[in-house]
Amino acid sequence: MQFIEWTEQMSVGSDVLDGHHKMIIECLNRLHPLLDAAGGDAEVHAILAKLEDFVLVHFSEEEQCMKKAGYPFWHIHKDQHDKMYDIVFGLKSDVEHGRSVNAKTLFDLIYNWLLQHIMGEDKKYMKYLNNPTGESDGIWVRANGRPY
Ligand SMILES: [Fe+2]
Ligand SMILES: [Fe+2]
Repeated sequence: MQFIEWTEQMSVGSDVLDGHHKMIIECLNRLHPLLDAAGGDAEVHAILAKLEDFVLVHFSEEEQCMKKAGYPFWHIHKDQHDKMYDIVFGLKSDVEHGRSVNAKTLFDLIYNWLLQHIMGEDKKYMKYLNNPTGESDGIWVRANGRPY
């Protein structure tokens, strides 16, 4: 049985963005059985690699969609993405330096942070995607100064 199932209530009204969000649910379902298991480092690190793909591909795509749809609070949303980006790439750096990342760390991160983000912040732009108001103004760079 899956720990969590994707439902229509999670939809943000875009097949592409929903597809990315489903990938995150899948990561959570893969991590759940590892919580009480010994070992599993290789699987946890494989899931972390998926999460890296997610933050690179999904955040960028979502930010472009928000901008095109004229969502006025994109900078608040993007700031949250940038914080998550830094956490995920911090974990990646840990692994590259020989420190292992355990299943609970990754599970808690996705469950407590990302899922709340999808159900909260992501849902807020939905009506703009369905009814665009024109391109949003503003400087379109990462808040922490890193390039895309
Ligand atoms: Fe999202
Ligand atoms: Fe988002």
